[in-house]
Amino acid sequence: MRPSILICSLLSGLACASVTPQNARPRTVGPFKRESLGSKWPYAPFSTKGRDIVNSRGDVVTWAGVNWPMSGETMIPEGLEWKSAADILDDVAGVGFNYIRMGYAIQMIDEIYDRKGRDVPMIDALTAALGRTNGTRVAKAIVSKNPNWTTRTTRFEIWSDIASTALKKGIFIQPDVHVSKAQWCCSHVDGNAWFEDVSFPVQNWLRGLSYVATWAKKHPNIVSMSLRNELRESWNRTNLYYNWDTLVGNMTAGTDAIHAANSDLLITWSGMQYDQDLSALTTGKNILTAPVSHYWSPSLLGLFT
Ligand SMILES: *[C@@H]1O[C@H](CO)[C@@H](O)[C@H](O)[C@H]1NC(C)=O
Ligand SMILES: *[C@@H]1O[C@H](CO)[C@@H](O)[C@H](O)[C@H]1NC(C)=O
Ligand SMILES: *[C@@H]1O[C@H](CO)[C@@H](O)[C@H](O)[C@H]1NC(C)=O
Ligand SMILES: *[C@@H]1O[C@H](CO)[C@@H](O)[C@H](O)[C@H]1NC(C)=O
Repeated sequence: MRPSILICSLLSGLACASVTPQNARPRTVGPFKRESLGSKWPYAPFSTKGRDIVNSRGDVVTWAGVNWPMSGETMIPEGLEWKSAADILDDVAGVGFNYIRMGYAIQMIDEIYDRKGRDVPMIDALTAALGRTNGTRVAKAIVSKNPNWTTRTTRFEIWSDIASTALKKGIFIQPDVHVSKAQWCCSHVDGNAWFEDVSFPVQNWLRGLSYVATWAKKHPNIVSMSLRNELRESWNRTNLYYNWDTLVGNMTAGTDAIHAANSDLLITWSGMQYDQDLSALTTGKNILTAPVSHYWSPSLLGLFT
């Protein structure tokens, strides 16, 4: 199955367009198939129909949500030293949200490969990022708020626990590659701007997408993934091709990596220029010749994550 692709500008939270790959056929889901695919909430898999996201029953699904960062140097979801995961999720549901976009770093998966498949315990992640004193202090605080974890609970165990708790509360989780090298995002000089930038090797990105898509199979409330946050021109490597053709080529490779691992996920794309520019798509221009905007006002940099 190859669902259509949803292209969204997450900055505006509004602009979305659905694109059906040329060789895709309309999904035909008979009653038996539908039962076996998803007979209970969230009725996965999801796909697109015109401007809408629909579940396997054809019902329009509306996502309203919030970003929960976990792409900083610790690569652990932020705020858990102040509140339990369950309480944070109650806060999210309490204002009527049903969706959380969790921005992660590809470095998190690279480290698992470097460690021959073993994930990084919370205490090691925190001390590497914050130093021994603060790392130990924050680890203890996280465990005191979240008593069914220990300081040896790993990053993906924490993420899985959050996803499972979110499922019970009717909240979707969308994994989103925020950066490759874990750090605050985003700028033209952070090494994470564009495919093959200083800290953005494409092969590691594809491997990371595949890993997370496989992990997501354990979590029924993960029905979608996004490919990359706020693509933009690199000012460090100026010999890269910053154009729509390169964006579509690499994003198609990312989509294929996800679908080879887990074909049921709906995939969101973002545009150029910090995801502000969807022009080639909305004007239907030829991607080889469509204009690309290069302008960015540094005064706005602080506004976006
Ligand atoms: C530890 O954290 C405090 C803030 O909570 C900060 O002021 C201090 O500089 C940190 N220490 C180190 C060694 O990073
Ligand atoms: C936390 O507890 C829940 C059950 O209440 C369990 O499913 C989950 O695996 C636990 N998480 C960890 C990291 O031990
Ligand atoms: C990119 O270039 C800027 C300006 O020369 C420099 O400050 C920055 O460290 C570079 N970034 C990387 C990831 O090398
Ligand atoms: C991905 O981006 C890089 C860097 O711009 C480019 O060299 C490469 O051709 C792109 N790959 C595809 C499949 O378009």
